[in-house]
Formats: sequence, structure tokens, C-alpha cells
Amino acid sequence: MNNFSFYDLQPKISNFRDEVLAGLSKQRKSIPPKFFYDDYGSKIFDQICELEEYYPTRTEFSILQQHCSDIADQIGENSLIIEYGSGSSQKICLLLDSLKKPLAYMPIDISREHMLSASKTIADKYPDLEVLAVCADYTTEMLLPDYDYSSLNKKVIFFPGTTIGNLEPEQAVKLLKRSAAIVGSGGGMLIGFDMKKDPQILHAAYNDSKGVTAAFNMNLLTRINRELEANFDTSTFSHYSFFNLSKSRIEMHLVSLVEQTVTISDRPFRFSEGESIHTENSYKFSLQEIKDLSERTGFKLSKFWTDPENHFYLCYLLAD
Ligand code: AVI
Repeated sequence: MNNFSFYDLQPKISNFRDEVLAGLSKQRKSIPPKFFYDDYGSKIFDQICELEEYYPTRTEFSILQQHCSDIADQIGENSLIIEYGSGSSQKICLLLDSLKKPLAYMPIDISREHMLSASKTIADKYPDLEVLAVCADYTTEMLLPDYDYSSLNKKVIFFPGTTIGNLEPEQAVKLLKRSAAIVGSGGGMLIGFDMKKDPQILHAAYNDSKGVTAAFNMNLLTRINRELEANFDTSTFSHYSFFNLSKSRIEMHLVSLVEQTVTISDRPFRFSEGESIHTENSYKFSLQEIKDLSERTGFKLSKFWTDPENHFYLCYLLAD
């Protein structure tokens, strides 16, 4: 395969034990959502994306399908497509199939094995496309690998899936500022945003009837038990997710149903009845917020595409 290269930027791998112990020592217990995605958690997340109630994945996909030629016109020829995360090959294939003469594709992911196998499949499928796989943490400062970028028309970051909504607002600002610097003036970012909507629709999406989201949330405790010598009794915790209207975000929690002490790596953690571990925020946006966020970070909202119900926006941001 001579259209494939791999660059290992050796990202700092976060320390699961330290972050869990620190998060559970806080007054309000919390664990960062990035720890959901062990092998089993990633599989359950794929199941979430298939759920009837979880509209974001299929809505974004249908927006992409319906508007791919318009999106391709925005991006133009001879582009480098940089993808944050190398998640759904369906979405990137749809984009690559629609683009006019894309020059190169650069998936950036912290999970080395997953990224290697996904990007090699892309290199096989598109022999005329240069695939530059990068192992790095796109949520931190990073330098793109050396490559002859001179023949490129523009760089465009593809960040689908409304993962931006899992970042705290100040982290989202930092990520977009860094992204604007990466693509440079005239470059772009194709990014998905989940929109504010009827709270009942949001509530159902994170409290599905089959209990898949609950299993996704609960898997965090099973993972802690397995990897950090802990003794969580998962039957004494409950998945709790609700829309926090004033903060415009879905919050996911694991609530202790009883007063109890859990031991993790020989350290005791007390839970009162009803006390929760905050495991995720998923922010929901308005069009004005997307415009403001873009303008604060060196972009302008150039164009957006949505579904008939305006549940999800796929936006093309243009760097100043
Ligand atoms: C990955 N991320 C955009 C999902 C979301 O909707 O915030 C994660 C998720 N959590 C529960 N369901 C899906």
C-alpha cells in the first residue's frame, strides 16, 4: 500500500486511575466521559447510534447524504480532509465519494489500533488518495506531521457526530481556535451540532426504552471494577439523565441508590443515598450560539445544512 503513511505523535495517554480517584474525591463526584470508550463501551456506543430514539447519528448522516454535492462544492478540489477521531467510516466514505479530487485524508485519533485499521481500509478503498494516519490527541495542542502541503488547495477539518457538545464551552473554544490555526486562512471545518429542541425528544434520546444508554453509562463502573480493583455493586447504582434547561445540556449521572462505601485501589469512597457521579454533558446549540462560537474562534459560519425538523445542523465554518 503506497498511499498510506503513519505518524505517531505519541500522545500523552491519560491515567485512568489518577483521573477516577481525583474525580471521585471532589465535592461533586465526576468522571470524564472519555473513559466510556473501552472496547465494550465503544460497542455499546455503536448500538446507541442505531437506536430509534437517538436521532443525531442518522439525522447527520441523512443531511450529509442529501447535501453532499453542495458540501463538496464548498470544499472544492485538491483538499486535505483532516478527521478528528476516526469513528464512522460510513460518514467519511460518503464525504470522500462526493469530493472532487481530494488529495489527502488525515484521520487523527488517540486510539492507535482502531485508527490504523480504519485508515488502512480507507487507503485500500481509495488508491488515488494519500492517507496520512496520525496518532495524536486532537483535544490538545499538536503540530501536523511534515508533509508537502504545497500542492493543496485547502485544509478542511471534518468533525462530525456533535462530539463538540461533549466539551465544556471553554474547551470547545480552545479546540476551534486551534482548528482555525491548523487549517489557516481560507481553510474550513465541517462540523456537526446537535440543536436545542423539545426537551422530551432530548430526554428520550438519552433514556432509551431498551436501556442501551443506561448500559453505556453503567459500563463505566464495570470498567473501574475490572481495571482499578474496585467493588462497585452496579445493582445499587442507577442511570440518570436529564436536560438541564438553564445550561442547555443533557447531563448523565450514576446515582447511588443507597448509602454505601466503595473501595477503589484500596481507597474508600463514601456515597450518600441519592448522591451522583456526573459522567457526561452533551451541550445543545442554537444557530446564534454556533455563529458566536465561530466568530470568537477565527471562523465564520459560511453555510449550514439541516433536516426538515431542524434537529441537527451540519455547518461549514470558514477560517478568516
Ligand atoms: C459522542 N457524543 C456526541 C454522544 C452524545 O450524544 O453526547 C455520547 C452519548 N452519550 C449518551 N448517548 C450518546
